[in-house]
Amino acid sequence: MEARRRALLVALAVLALAAAAEGYNITKILAAYPEYSQFNKLLTQTRLAQDINKRRTITVLVVANGDMGSLAGGGRTLQTIRHMLQIHVLVDYYGGKKLHQLAHGVTACSSMFQESGAAPGMSGYVNITQHRGGKVTFTAEDAEDSAPSSAFVKSVKEIPYDLAVLQISKVLASPEAEAPVAAPAPVNITELLSKKYCKSFAGLLAADADAYSTINATKDNGLTLFCPVDSAVASFMPKYKNLTAKGRTAILLYHAVPDYYSLQLLTSNSGKVSTLATSNVAKKDYSFDVEKDGETAELDTKVNSASVTYTIKDDDPLAVYAISKFLQPKELYKIAKDIAPAPAPEGPKKKKTTKKKPSAAASPSDDDDDDDSAADSPDDSSSDDATADKDGAAPSAVAGWVTAAVAVASALALAA
Ligand SMILES: *[C@@H]1O[C@H](CO)[C@@H](O)[C@H](O)[C@H]1NC(C)=O
Ligand SMILES: *[C@@H]1O[C@H](CO)[C@@H](O)[C@H](O)[C@H]1NC(C)=O
Ligand SMILES: *[C@@H]1O[C@H](CO)[C@@H](O)[C@H](O)[C@H]1NC(C)=O
Ligand SMILES: *[C@@H]1O[C@H](CO)[C@@H](O)[C@H](O)[C@H]1NC(C)=O
Ligand SMILES: *[C@@H]1O[C@H](CO)[C@@H](O)[C@H](O)[C@H]1NC(C)=O
Repeated sequence: MEARRRALLVALAVLALAAAAEGYNITKILAAYPEYSQFNKLLTQTRLAQDINKRRTITVLVVANGDMGSLAGGGRTLQTIRHMLQIHVLVDYYGGKKLHQLAHGVTACSSMFQESGAAPGMSGYVNITQHRGGKVTFTAEDAEDSAPSSAFVKSVKEIPYDLAVLQISKVLASPEAEAPVAAPAPVNITELLSKKYCKSFAGLLAADADAYSTINATKDNGLTLFCPVDSAVASFMPKYKNLTAKGRTAILLYHAVPDYYSLQLLTSNSGKVSTLATSNVAKKDYSFDVEKDGETAELDTKVNSASVTYTIKDDDPLAVYAISKFLQPKELYKIAKDIAPAPAPEGPKKKKTTKKKPSAAASPSDDDDDDDSAADSPDDSSSDDATADKDGAAPSAVAGWVTAAVAVASALALAA
């Protein structure tokens, strides 16, 4: 029990650390080595690349294009290939130097396959064996005795002590990782949202072909969708109707984050997320902040805030959460002032208040209730959206967490 709790806290701390550090991009790193292009392509197709990028203290065992072996064979689902790749990602740092300093004999190391929960028993572990004469081999724990082991070839890239990329001579044989996994049944977003809580939002999405197809096209690639409950949609409708067509598409896409976040990851992190509106509307931020709020998460747009009330689906790569309010982006509505009356014009300086109409949010009724907020109509920035083009799918649009070091500190403190 205690050990489990401790392990969980350490895992949380690792996740928080991973998010706090400057990110690396395994796809980009491997792109510099065309001899691993097939392995790299599979990392992207299985979305394992983005999971690797979120981690620190990790070792990726790559094979050259000519050594793809069982990974090259057809007929496997991406889910199966994902497991096969996961066993090639060790959740510890083994630079070439550390590798050769290991004690003689066997060191067992956990892999991402083990962490996935899909590996029974010890099958997600990889044995690293030091042989006399300096040879190092890797064997999956569940490999049959007859399976040839895979030898260390060279160190490809090392970012001490975050990431090591090592080339090995062969794909690791692991019957459990190779066990066929069926592709998941296709998800009908409209149907999923209509089942509970979010029927109205499903209707808005279904009626907006642009927003629907963008979200539908992202759902298999890592997507977290926040759907306002029916009552929240009802009270927002008057404002929604006032938006231009571009504004409506933008606000719908604003509710979709192009990455998968489990509820655990949502509630254990704080930070800013980009949305599908960010990549869809050129030169606009369209982000919001996620904050832990007790057992749940609070989404804060700076105009209003909503809390996650139900989990509708949480199944990598798709998470759908019901939220209490319709999110209003600062790109379309005026930022709410958090300090109630601002007495003197020469008062304490505020950095980021809106310059255009400083009196707009001064109404005393401008409290938590978003329906009474001072922003009655989309401000002038929405007209920019009407002219915005759609090519701006910036690479940086992928959601990024900026994590408070506090989370790490508190997790560590609890674990101690
Ligand atoms: C990682 O690098 C690849 C190739 O350079 C690029 O296509 C991709 O957008 C990058 N990913 C992130 C999250 O920046
Ligand atoms: C891995 O190492 C353990 C000892 O640490 C050993 O019991 C097991 O048989 C090894 N498995 C393989 C496949 O070599
Ligand atoms: C998805 O479900 C909705 C509602 O049940 C239905 O109208 C629509 O035809 C379905 N779409 C697809 C592609 O099956
Ligand atoms: C939604 O995506 C699926 C693939 O996941 C595709 O088969 C389907 O045609 C798409 N539906 C619409 C309406 O674009
Ligand atoms: C809609 O826009 C009109 C004209 O700008 C404005 O008078 C009205 O108050 C707006 N209604 C809502 C609910 O924002």
